[in-house]
Amino acid sequence: MKQTEIISIYDSVKDRAGVLHAAELLRRGGTVIIPTETVYGLAANAGDAGAVAQVFEAKGRPADNPLIVHIARMEELPPLVTEIPENARILAARFWPGPLTMILPKSAAVPDITAGGLDTVAIRMPANPIARAIIEACGFALAAPSANRSGSPSPTTAAHCIDDMAGRVDAIVKSAPCTVGVESTVVSLCGPVPTLLRPGAVTLEELRDALGPVELGIGVLERLEENARALSPGLKYKHYSPQADVILIKGTREEYLRWLTQLPERAGCWAMCFDEDVPGIGMDYLSYGPRRDHRTQAVRIFGLLREVDRHGARRVYVHAPDPDGIGLAVYNRLARAAGFQIVEAGSTAVGEEGKPW
Ligand code: TXA
Ligand code: MG
Repeated sequence: MKQTEIISIYDSVKDRAGVLHAAELLRRGGTVIIPTETVYGLAANAGDAGAVAQVFEAKGRPADNPLIVHIARMEELPPLVTEIPENARILAARFWPGPLTMILPKSAAVPDITAGGLDTVAIRMPANPIARAIIEACGFALAAPSANRSGSPSPTTAAHCIDDMAGRVDAIVKSAPCTVGVESTVVSLCGPVPTLLRPGAVTLEELRDALGPVELGIGVLERLEENARALSPGLKYKHYSPQADVILIKGTREEYLRWLTQLPERAGCWAMCFDEDVPGIGMDYLSYGPRRDHRTQAVRIFGLLREVDRHGARRVYVHAPDPDGIGLAVYNRLARAAGFQIVEAGSTAVGEEGKPW
């Protein structure tokens, strides 16, 4: 067990002493949870293999799942990669700082452990001013995966980080809730065509507008087959799951509500629905925002997946978001929480396909 310090930083300028203290711990090879605009990240010096090893240990993360390297300025990029393709310059100019991670060919400056043994590296320049101030005060790039225990929903508040990681890291920066709420968009620029590996707040539509053709990586909308080679190692692990069984239901409001009324058994079952569904819901529910407001849904989903467990829910029936814009990111996280158990409410009766529900 580590003694975990809590460092309150709500303003990167006024709380300068906290920024410098967090940076000092990181300079000494420590692990510090920092806020970013997407989710909280568990940071360590990306160039220090010993410090990065503690990140894997604290999360219980498999060694072949690489970390994202966070920078604060464009000058920090060239030493980390062997090449900066034109597409990377275009995306950096449009979307950095912000919720976008690019996969690029890695240089020798990035230790193998940080890159999960791959010859590529994931790089992101976050927009959160506190994250940026800490990186700048360190003077080196920070490797930072989401600060949850491996497999559980990503943390979007300091309280989530304290729940998951107190006693496992040197410090937790206590700051405001994350404004985006889902992890960054990950795009690979290492193949012949740019490929979206993980959808996020920088949308597929925006990437295509900037670059032209962008492929959708396998594993974004469907379950990755057992033996499929994961383009992004993280895709093959079960993710974001609460203890409860999650089932994603596609359909109109009427189809979703009708489907719920046919459930033979409701004890321990919850609905995770849109605001519009609430009037007819007829069971315990958590609402994750208006149907067309994907930004609100993104901000809320990980917190609600945690709340479901606090209620001791056995099963959660989630009304699936429309997979456009940031909705694709919300859909992807929920589909993965559901282990890709997805039902078409308009064409599947409850109990069909031999499922217990
Ligand atoms: O928003 C975010 O990206 C947050 C904050 C803290 O910045 N970080 C985050 O890190 O979500 P993590 O480790 O939870 O997710 C990183 C994802 C994983 O799915 C990993 O497999 C993938 O990025 N990844 C990292 N390096 C990669 C590489 N070289 N090639 C392909 N995928 C990579
Ligand atoms: Mg993660």
